[in-house]
Amino acid sequence: MEIIVADLAQSHGLDMVEQRIQAGDVSLLVNNAGFQTYMPFVDLSIDRAQEEVAVQVTAVMRLSHAALPAMIARGEGAIINVSSLLCFSGSLKSPFMPKRSVYAATKAFITMFSELLAAELQGKGILVQALCPAVVRTEFHDIDGKPVLRPNVPVMEPGDVVNASLAGLRQGDTICIPALEQVGKLSAVGDANRALFDAGRGAELAPRYR
Ligand SMILES: NC(=O)c1ccc[n+]([C@@H]2O[C@H](COP(=O)([O-])OP(=O)(O)OC[C@H]3O[C@@H](n4cnc5c(N)ncnc54)[C@H](OP(=O)(O)O)[C@@H]3O)[C@@H](O)[C@H]2O)c1
Repeated sequence: MEIIVADLAQSHGLDMVEQRIQAGDVSLLVNNAGFQTYMPFVDLSIDRAQEEVAVQVTAVMRLSHAALPAMIARGEGAIINVSSLLCFSGSLKSPFMPKRSVYAATKAFITMFSELLAAELQGKGILVQALCPAVVRTEFHDIDGKPVLRPNVPVMEPGDVVNASLAGLRQGDTICIPALEQVGKLSAVGDANRALFDAGRGAELAPRYR
């Protein structure tokens, strides 16, 4: 096993990992690094927000880009990008949900990036998955070393998330939501997006904007 210690929010850390991946022997890339910044956007330090974008957007994009040429040449490989169920939470207004504008937006990037990349790579033997768990029992929720979770929130064990992701990869799931049994709910999102795209493509202003 080879371990590289790197801060993916810093360009020298990301460069180091990127160069290692460019050696071309990675068959499974898991972009897992991430952290939450649950707070009102105006209270979030802009440096921390920038780090979040660096780790959860820039690093995911650059490390995928570094891994793909060799995977394409071999005709096999897989990329798992750890997103979050919160990538679908833009329309959720619940006061019990955390303030998450930057966190959820980075996860929306990951999910759309993965979905479009998977489509681009179809037929090349490479699987791309956006893994979208809800709440998982990890140090992600710790503040000052203690877990901070609302009571009664369903919490999944990390091993179950891993098993779902690998099962999803075998089934060719581009979006894996570990607790989702009714897959029709996910295809309904795709159907709604296509319907919105079709309805929003006109050359004329909608009457309500005139
Ligand atoms: N736990 C949840 O409820 C939940 C739900 C949905 C999605 N997720 C996602 O799952 C992924 C893994 O998080 P987790 O739940 O396992 O949380 P975690 O226990 O806090 O682990 C986060 C991991 O990301 C690494 N990391 C954070 N910032 C980094 C940086 N700047 N450079 C390199 N590595 C960095 C950490 O490394 P160090 O240990 O060295 O700091 C750690 O290995 C994240 O992308 C998170 O957004 C988590």
